[in-house]
Amino acid sequence: MVHIWLVQGGYQFRSVHAHILVVGWLTLFAWSVYYKLYKPAYHWLAGLHVWTAIIGAVGLTAGMYFYYVKPFGVSGTFPTVFFIVGGTIMLISFVCFALITFLKQEAND
Ligand code: HEM
Ligand code: HEM
Repeated sequence: MVHIWLVQGGYQFRSVHAHILVVGWLTLFAWSVYYKLYKPAYHWLAGLHVWTAIIGAVGLTAGMYFYYVKPFGVSGTFPTVFFIVGGTIMLISFVCFALITFLKQEAND
């Protein structure tokens, strides 16, 4: 049902659909597997990574929804700023993850 709602009625949902799946599902799943396999060198950096990932994935996809689908008929500054802030938080998460992978870590048992 959710999926039919995501793709019906036009292509405004395409990027929302794509990012819920490739960022919200594939990327977050890959990161969870990474943490199962490796122990991060800095706990605070891992915390920042995970929280920006959760907030960013929701913020980015909600921002895309407001920007492309315009559910409340609102266009202009609000959806644009929401989209940019959500996307930037997600981008910070990717940077944190890149740092985590370069820093020394021990393998989990
Ligand atoms: C910081 C995270 C990300 C941001 C801010 C972002 C932003 C965007 C934007 C603005 C578009 C253009 C959408 C359009 O004009 O319709 C786009 C398209 C796309 N992105 Fe991302 N993206 C991010 C992460 C990712 C990741 C991690 C993947 C893949 C694993 C991905 C896959 C795609 C694909 C396949 C498209 C084309 C889909 C479409 O036609 O809408 N993106 N992205
Ligand atoms: C029942 C399963 C699915 C259906 C029916 C479906 C349907 C669609 C449709 C209709 C589009 C628009 C295609 C177009 O632009 O002509 C689309 C685009 C897309 N879907 Fe799905 N999808 C499904 C599952 C998934 C999954 C599991 C992923 C990723 C894990 C995914 C990622 C994407 C991406 C990245 C695009 C954008 C492609 C592009 O910009 O060229 N989809 N999907």
